[in-house]
Amino acid sequence: MCSTPSAIASEIDLASTMPFAERLLTWYQKSGRHSLPWKIDPTPYRVWLSEIMLQQTQVSTVLEYFARFTAQFPDLSTLAAADEDAVLAAWTGLGYYRRARNLLKAARQVADEHDGQLPDDLESLQALPGIGKSTAGAIMALAFNRRATILDGNVKRVLSRIHGITDWPGKRDVETRLWRLAEAHTPTRDVSSYTQAIMDLGATLCTRRAPSCHQCPAIELCTAHRLGMSHQIPAPAPRKKPPERSAFMLVIEDASGHVLLEKRPGQGVWGGLWCFPEHSDSQGAEAAARHLVGRADRLMPAPAKMRHQFTHYRLNLTLSHVRISDRPLLAVRDRNLDWFAPHELSTVGLAAPVVRLLNPTSQD
Ligand code: ADE
Repeated sequence: MCSTPSAIASEIDLASTMPFAERLLTWYQKSGRHSLPWKIDPTPYRVWLSEIMLQQTQVSTVLEYFARFTAQFPDLSTLAAADEDAVLAAWTGLGYYRRARNLLKAARQVADEHDGQLPDDLESLQALPGIGKSTAGAIMALAFNRRATILDGNVKRVLSRIHGITDWPGKRDVETRLWRLAEAHTPTRDVSSYTQAIMDLGATLCTRRAPSCHQCPAIELCTAHRLGMSHQIPAPAPRKKPPERSAFMLVIEDASGHVLLEKRPGQGVWGGLWCFPEHSDSQGAEAAARHLVGRADRLMPAPAKMRHQFTHYRLNLTLSHVRISDRPLLAVRDRNLDWFAPHELSTVGLAAPVVRLLNPTSQD
């Protein structure tokens, strides 16, 4: 569905007494989240990092990771010079690890191509790994106070409700319409505050399950509220039963607690993270155990089961524990394998099964 600019303009004007952006700016001064660390010191590097961490992750979870990450990698040049294992170690537990690998790639690209300064135009930002249209808009607005538009999940929900757009925002034509509306609402002044305000509104008042309409500064403009449909708008994503997969992992441990881990290939799930060696069937796992430690007769009789939910499928894992007295030398062909003492585990990025089995207090 394609609306003309004048149709979009009247869609907005019709409803407004005081424009949406002005209402949000007034509300934001009093009720916005001004103490977020990337708001207090909004350098381009910190804004960019926060936006990447906040993709698919809530502010409350990000705060701790952001503080630790910026203590270890305080600026772009430190990050660009870091090795991937150190970056993935700092990301361990935050999930969606491709974000961390892209962040590092982008930092190196900025060091090489932009003299170490994050570019301040949309096109160059979007040319960096991991930065899409909305994230580029957020960086432009929050770090450089340049007029640019964002449309993340929270903003899609807010605008769907204001304009009474009932369909799922993931549909291509709905998304196109929402981008047009988002662009039309974006003010020319104080874009940084407006951008933070609309995200804060979505995260704190215009929430998915329990919207607080009576505290909302845009209640008079809101079509969903007027129709009593705030809980139905926007429609959720069509549900498909996620497929299931299974895999077998070997937990090989010596008497002093060293474990054998494998660095996973950059592509695919848990890319670049260290994980227990994985096999698609139990025969493969047994053969690998025989190859690696010379015997497979100590496989636990009742292997442990673990489930991991990815966005698109569920992984059912069977973990077999092999305890050995001496660590065998690794063969050249096993170059992605290494032994880790317990204290070395915090120096690399760890896949969720390792975190869950060996460090059950942390999250995965
Ligand atoms: N979600 C995405 N970006 C955000 C930001 N800057 N502040 C709060 N929540 C966000």
